Amino acid sequence: MFKKFKKNSKKLQKYASEIIPGTSQLFGKRPELYLPGGNWPTYYSKAKGVSVWGLDNKKYYDFTMVGIGTSVLGYSDPTINKVAVKALNSSPMNTLNPPEDVELAEMLLKLHPWSEGVRFCRTGGESMSIAIRLARAYNKRDKILFCGYHGWHDWYLAANLNSQNSLNTHLLPGLEPLGVPKAFEGLVIPFKFNSFEDIERIVKKNAKDCAAIVMEPCRESLPDKEYLNEIKRIAKKNNCVLIFDEITSGWRSNTGGIHMNLGIYPDMAVFGKTIANGFAMGAIIGKKKIMKNATKTFISSAFWTERIGPACAVAFIKKHKKLNLGNILITKGKKIKNVWKKSAKDAGLDIEINGIDPLPTFKLKVKDWPATLTYFIQEMLKKKFLATDKCYANYKHDNILITKYEKACSSVFLDIAKLNKKNKIRENLKSPVKLMGFKRLTN
Ligand SMILES: Cc1ncc(COP(=O)(O)O)c(C=O)c1O
Repeated sequence: MFKKFKKNSKKLQKYASEIIPGTSQLFGKRPELYLPGGNWPTYYSKAKGVSVWGLDNKKYYDFTMVGIGTSVLGYSDPTINKVAVKALNSSPMNTLNPPEDVELAEMLLKLHPWSEGVRFCRTGGESMSIAIRLARAYNKRDKILFCGYHGWHDWYLAANLNSQNSLNTHLLPGLEPLGVPKAFEGLVIPFKFNSFEDIERIVKKNAKDCAAIVMEPCRESLPDKEYLNEIKRIAKKNNCVLIFDEITSGWRSNTGGIHMNLGIYPDMAVFGKTIANGFAMGAIIGKKKIMKNATKTFISSAFWTERIGPACAVAFIKKHKKLNLGNILITKGKKIKNVWKKSAKDAGLDIEINGIDPLPTFKLKVKDWPATLTYFIQEMLKKKFLATDKCYANYKHDNILITKYEKACSSVFLDIAKLNKKNKIRENLKSPVKLMGFKRLTN
């Protein structure tokens, strides 16, 4: 079957959905989140820069999150690929360890001088599970206070054992924590981002029993600095480990965690995603007294010792620093925000633009936003853009491409304005309305 469909994305997708529950291993790559019914390309043959070729060799420009936020230098970056190939040819797996582990550890500690120890793994969710284990091992408490999205593992999904709504504003509405042991109930408590009210109501009240306070230091926007300072004070006073999840916010506006820009230092910070520009890598950094528990509890996995991840992370960080990539991403993100703002203004549409500059998002204030967004994705695809309501700024979003994107956006926004007036968006959809799933909400 695979051989028969391997050049036909629509048929391959249908076949995949029969033998791979969910089709993709990542929720955010499920085709229903873009265009349901087989109209999204779903599979690729190759990618370079921000160009992606489908199975039929059609070329698209990627103005989505570009590899779900993993590849800020663009796909197949020549510097990173060279290092990956060298690591590959030297045998990525071996009886001995890759020396790049040490080089990378040294680099991360230098970039974050408050930290004193490092551990590595390969994915974001896994890195967060390690951080939680270390925090619990350190202060011998079980409860966790959290804000944001931190992966798929039991410790996190346990938040919904009490109420199916706990993760509504952090992950997805109404998630059933099926398969998560009921014994974990009550161990994980959510609080709202940047809410002083929740500091009083939830954080202060529970902190004394908690192993850790875990949060994304930046979500749709940066928090109030006094808010983060207060969280830090509470963590310190109650001997909770303060963990910043920098899996999405790291490497976007500076070389390292965004908390370095904010000047508020946690006890641990966690990196993943773009740290190796598209190669699997995760890192946990922290204070020595906490990190040393990594040898007291049991944290270990064979493929956390392969070479490509740390070798590419070292190359990525060097290149990031040399280019001052944080500043470049901020500038590009601003340009993308301007494209949306201008296109909406020209079309007479109301628009809401959110997100820090390197991670912008938009929403048109129309009657039927899910259908309108589906129409936007559908029409942008016709113009050879992979596009949605978020566009993570990328080094390879050059001025020529941004101009092309602007032309496409303004034309589609004009169509939207016309169809919207006549209430005709839905009848112009070639597929059902997209699944409105994974949002990064602020409250
Ligand atoms: C803030 C944050 N934490 C954790 C994760 C989970 O990372 P992964 O998908 O690599 O397991 C993500 C992924 O989007 C994330 O954005």
